[in-house]
Amino acid sequence: MTEKTKTYCLINYGCQMNESDTEHYAGQLEEMGYAPVSDFHIADVIVVNTCCVRESAEKKIAGKIGELKAVKTKNPDVVICVAGCMAQKDGEKLLKKHPQVDLLLGTAYVNDFKQVLQDYLADRKGGAYTDLTVHQSEFEGQMVRQSPFAAWIPIMYGCNNFCTYCIVPYVRGRERSRSVENIVAEIEAAVREGYKEFTLLGQNVNSYGKDFGEEEAFAKLLRRVDRIPGVERIHYMTSHPRDMSEEVVKAVAECEHICENFHVPFQAGSSEILRRMNRGYSKEKYLALIDLIRRYVPDAAITTDIIVGFPGETEEDFEETLDVVRRVGFTSAFTFIYSKRSGTPAARMDNQVPLPVKKERLNRLMALQNENSLRCHQQLVGKTVEVLAEGPSRQADVWAGRTRTGVLVLWPVEDKKYEVGQKVKVLLDAAQTWLVKGKAVD
Ligand code: 5AD
Ligand code: SF4
Repeated sequence: MTEKTKTYCLINYGCQMNESDTEHYAGQLEEMGYAPVSDFHIADVIVVNTCCVRESAEKKIAGKIGELKAVKTKNPDVVICVAGCMAQKDGEKLLKKHPQVDLLLGTAYVNDFKQVLQDYLADRKGGAYTDLTVHQSEFEGQMVRQSPFAAWIPIMYGCNNFCTYCIVPYVRGRERSRSVENIVAEIEAAVREGYKEFTLLGQNVNSYGKDFGEEEAFAKLLRRVDRIPGVERIHYMTSHPRDMSEEVVKAVAECEHICENFHVPFQAGSSEILRRMNRGYSKEKYLALIDLIRRYVPDAAITTDIIVGFPGETEEDFEETLDVVRRVGFTSAFTFIYSKRSGTPAARMDNQVPLPVKKERLNRLMALQNENSLRCHQQLVGKTVEVLAEGPSRQADVWAGRTRTGVLVLWPVEDKKYEVGQKVKVLLDAAQTWLVKGKAVD
C-alpha cells in the first residue's frame, strides 16, 4: 500500500511581504514532501500567515484561528501554525487564547520554518518562535510562487522609521538588507523558470543598503536588476517620501524595464499631522517630490496610501489631505481609517477622532479619489498600451492584464488564444473608475 501524500493549506492575510513569506512557507513544505490543498479541513499542516497593521485585520484573523479549534478537536494530529505579524505581536498570549495552535512563527523565522516543523514533528513540543533578533536576510531555498510570470523579491526586511501610528517596526524588527548578489541570483533563477515581472519588496525600499553603509544603494540595485537579461518589468514598493532620492527617480526615468509607477504614501496632507506622525516631511516637501517625479517621468502613474482620522485631525487638517489628492491626481490610492495600535505612540495621544467622523471623512476622500482614478483612466483612452496578460476575467471570453503602470485592462479574446504572462498590445477605448477596456491590436 502506498503511503498517503501529506498535505498543507496556507491561509494568507496582509501585504505583499506576507504573500512573499507565504511562498517561502509553501516552498519549504513542498521540500518536505507536502502537497497543497485549498480546504484546511483536510490538511495535515495548516499555516495562517497573519497581519496586525489594523484592528479590522486582526479581528478577521482571530475569527479564522477560532474556526481551527473544531479542526483540531476532530483531528488532533493536524499541525496548526500561526505565523507573521500577529504571532510576533501577541506571542504566548495568542497561544493561551487559542490552545488549538501548536506553533507560533515570528517574522524573523520565515526561512527556518522547515527546521521548526521538523523539530515539532519529532517531539510534538510546540511553542513560540518569536525572537526578533534572529536576523536572517539571505535566502537560498526554493519557494513556490503563486503567479507563473510575476515574482515577489524581498530586498530588505524590517523598518526603522517608527511612524507614530504604525506597529510594523515592533513586529518586523530593524532594517536589514539582502545582499545584491543574493537578490540577483534569485531573479536570474526566476527568469530561467519563465518569470518576467519582478516586484522588489521592503517596508521602506529607499533605505535599502543603508545598513551596509552604502550611498544610493537602492538606485544602484534598480540599475543592476534592469541589466539582468530576461527581466521585462520591474516594480518596487514601498517608498518613503522622505528617503526617495533624485537618483532613484533618475534610475526609473533612464532604465528600460523599470515601470513608470511610483507608490509614494503621503498618509496625511497637514504638515502638523505629518509632524505628529513622525513622517519627516511636510506637505510642501511631498508636493516638491511629486514635481520632481513628473519632471523626470511625465507619464508616471503615482499612487499612494492615506490615513484619515489620525488623533487630533481637525476638519482643516483633513481639507489639506483632500488638497493633496486634488493637486497630485493619483491614479489610485489605498485609503484607511486610522486604527489604534496599542504600544504605538499615537495610541496614547489625546483627541482620538470619533468613528463616525472618520467614516464620513473616508467617504469624502474615496469619492474624490474615484473622480481622479476615472480621469487618469480617461486620459489613456485612444492610446495603445502594452499589457501583461493575467488570465481570463470574470467572463471567460474577456481577458485581464495590467499596463506597465499597473492599470487593469480588459479586452475580448475573440478568436485569439492568449497565454498567461504574454505581452499584448491593446488599444484602449473605454474608461471606468477601476479599469480600462480595449481591443487587442496584434
Ligand atoms: N491605522 C490605519 N492605517 C495604517 N497604516 C499603517 N498603520 C496604520 C494604522 N494604525 C496604513 C498606512 C501604510 C499602509 C500599509 O497601512 O497607510 O502605508
Ligand atoms: Fe500586515 Fe504590515 Fe505585517 Fe504586512 S508588514 S503583514 S501590512 S502588519
